Amino acid sequence: MTQPTWDAVDAYFSDTLVGHDPVLEAASAAADAAGLPHIAVAPNQGKLLHLLALTVGARRILEVGTLGGYSAIWLARALPADGTLITLEIDPKHAEVARGNLARAGLDKVAEVRLGSALDSLAVIGAEGGEPFDLVFIDADKVNNPAYFAWALKLTRPGSLIVVDNVVRGGAVADAASADSAVVATRRLHDVIAAEPRVTATSVQTVGSKGYDGFTLARVQN
Ligand code: SAH
Ligand code: DHB
Ligand code: MG
Repeated sequence: MTQPTWDAVDAYFSDTLVGHDPVLEAASAAADAAGLPHIAVAPNQGKLLHLLALTVGARRILEVGTLGGYSAIWLARALPADGTLITLEIDPKHAEVARGNLARAGLDKVAEVRLGSALDSLAVIGAEGGEPFDLVFIDADKVNNPAYFAWALKLTRPGSLIVVDNVVRGGAVADAASADSAVVATRRLHDVIAAEPRVTATSVQTVGSKGYDGFTLARVQN
């Protein structure tokens, strides 16, 4: 579902506050040329992720679901020179496009694309026992969101922020009787978060050039 006014307003916001960005435009063009689906975050949403990463002072960022690296570029640009972004992708073609885009963006020193099922990669990251992540962006297969959220909690610290994309499911998230596995998982995610004393969270609906959707934002508590 999209509406011309949503596109027009997104174009207006992106033109005024995001601006012309050759690196990001090249990343989108490379994703298009490789036939990747048009499911990256919109420019003004990418900038929101960037602002959230700046706001939490992120030095380590974890992304679940890379696609062509568009959101990864926005997130990694918020990192200091010695920061780290790890982004998880199951599709080798997506990972290859993302690596090229991150290299052209000059971010290949801070950003690492790990190929494989995110649940496997998360287990590896957990076993590596590195420093906690300051921000986690969950944006892969929606049925695994409760499991990704559980991993995000394990891999963060008090003050970290966990962001989950695509939680509205065209409005179906409000349907307790839905049989759609992504809706069932998104509702389960909300139940898990509501019962989790270690986070304080909200979800917001969004409209724009990517249609009608929304984010969940959860802060890990002190
Ligand atoms: N965050 C990206 C968009 C990600 S689209 C952006 O905004 O630019 C979702 C991605 O998750 C796709 O590339 C898909 O291949 C990947 N994905 C789906 N299931 C996955 C899984 N089980 N493990 C890792 N990645 C997965
Ligand atoms: C889909 C996935 C996304 O991450 C998104 O932002 C939009 C759509 C999808 O799988 O259809
Ligand atoms: Mg998404």
